[in-house]
Amino acid sequence: MKRKRFLWLVPMLVLSLILSACGGGSSSTGGEADSEGKDNDKTFSLKAGHSLTEDHPYHIGLLELAKNVEERTDGKVKIEVFPLSQLGAERELTEALTLGTADMSVSSTAPIANFYPEIGIVDMPFLFESREHAYKVLDGEVGQELLKGMENVGIVGLAWGENGFRHITNAKQPINKPEDLKGLKIRTQENPIHLDAFNALGAKPTPMAWTEALTALQQGVVDAQENPIVVADTYKLYEANQKYMTLTGHLYSPAVIMFSKSVWDTLPGEYQDILKEESKKAGDQIRDLITKSDEESLKVLKEQGMEIVEEVDVAPFREAIQPVYEKYESEFGKEKLDAILNTK
Ligand code: PAF
Repeated sequence: MKRKRFLWLVPMLVLSLILSACGGGSSSTGGEADSEGKDNDKTFSLKAGHSLTEDHPYHIGLLELAKNVEERTDGKVKIEVFPLSQLGAERELTEALTLGTADMSVSSTAPIANFYPEIGIVDMPFLFESREHAYKVLDGEVGQELLKGMENVGIVGLAWGENGFRHITNAKQPINKPEDLKGLKIRTQENPIHLDAFNALGAKPTPMAWTEALTALQQGVVDAQENPIVVADTYKLYEANQKYMTLTGHLYSPAVIMFSKSVWDTLPGEYQDILKEESKKAGDQIRDLITKSDEESLKVLKEQGMEIVEEVDVAPFREAIQPVYEKYESEFGKEKLDAILNTK
């Protein structure tokens, strides 16, 4: 009888264990300041989260970053990497960065636009013709200004990585032209531009976090989704009713390696410099690995029986989404959009 009185403590204990394991927020220990005011003994334990699997380039890039940062700071900055949305799906985790309740993440840009609308410009459909085109813009003035502007919403944008060119998969039929999308229930990212684009294409889009998308596909709540080839492969979408894939490449989805500004500001400048350098390296590594895995992942999807439409005439898709450009021209500025479109 007596023991039962404390049973209510068990769920609370479990909850607090989960929160301390999964929740964000850096912890720091130690340290006496030296004569220059530099705190040499202080250590920082940080958590970095993302939504993909352990074999995805997001994870591999973050692990490499963590290893290099730990080495270069003599073990003073430790970063633990959490895959599979364990620290929250992309939108939640981005919000947590703005609030200072998470430390670090890699996320595709689409959900970031809910907190930092300016970044939405890179999620315009058919904006980038190739990876080289995207890299030129993102590594140039436009991209660097976008990273800098994140500070206004409490995030330090450290470097561009990549999610990849997005393609449509579905359970119903091969998609060859926009008419084939008519009425198709498709999961989109939580981003107004994506939503408008799929409405313009005649589909029935439902925005939801990736954490809900798999169940929605398995249970037939939605019949389709769109993501890069490597995501379809690493998440085995062929086991979630996805029989067809069309290589529409309707938008290039960049990713950002980012930090909570309030956590960032607690780090000594020399560690910030190391983190910046290692994030740039990790971003490049992610781009590289995703580019390389496109072919390999496509092979896996074919072997698993997915029917892939590889030759797609994208002109009618591009034409159908023109109203989306008209709608967002005033928000992003026609000149800026044209400047990106015309970057060679
Ligand atoms: O579709 C999404 O939500 C994103 O592309 C994903 C899979 C989380 C990767 O950033």
